[in-house]
Amino acid sequence: MIKLIMKIVNSSEKYGLVSKLFHWITFIVLIVQVPFGFYLVGLEFSDRRIDLENIHILIGISVFYFVLIRLISVSYTHLTLPTICSV
Ligand code: HEM
Repeated sequence: MIKLIMKIVNSSEKYGLVSKLFHWITFIVLIVQVPFGFYLVGLEFSDRRIDLENIHILIGISVFYFVLIRLISVSYTHLTLPTICSV
């Protein structure tokens, strides 16, 4: 049970599943936002464009808060950075 919890949350040496999931979700969402944005710019002005712009904006703002939460959660965990040279 403790091993499972250690896999889910960060340990002092490794990122847990929650952190990894947060990381990759942010990555994928940001990658998707760029072509989505270019697609939006190419659209004629219409109700559909407004709807899609709203989705783009919502995703953009959500990602901002997502990253903020990650930064706060990281500041509460005490990961030891990998050492380049051990003394
Ligand atoms: C990491 C990528 C991106 C993120 C996180 C992002 C996020 C956002 C956010 C938060 C807004 C609302 C800002 C505002 O209304 O002033 C917005 C609006 C918009 N974005 Fe992006 N964006 C990204 C990439 C792009 C790209 C590559 C394009 C197109 C070249 C684009 C086109 C637009 C357009 C057309 C709007 C609506 C502008 C408006 O409300 O006047 N976005 N984006």
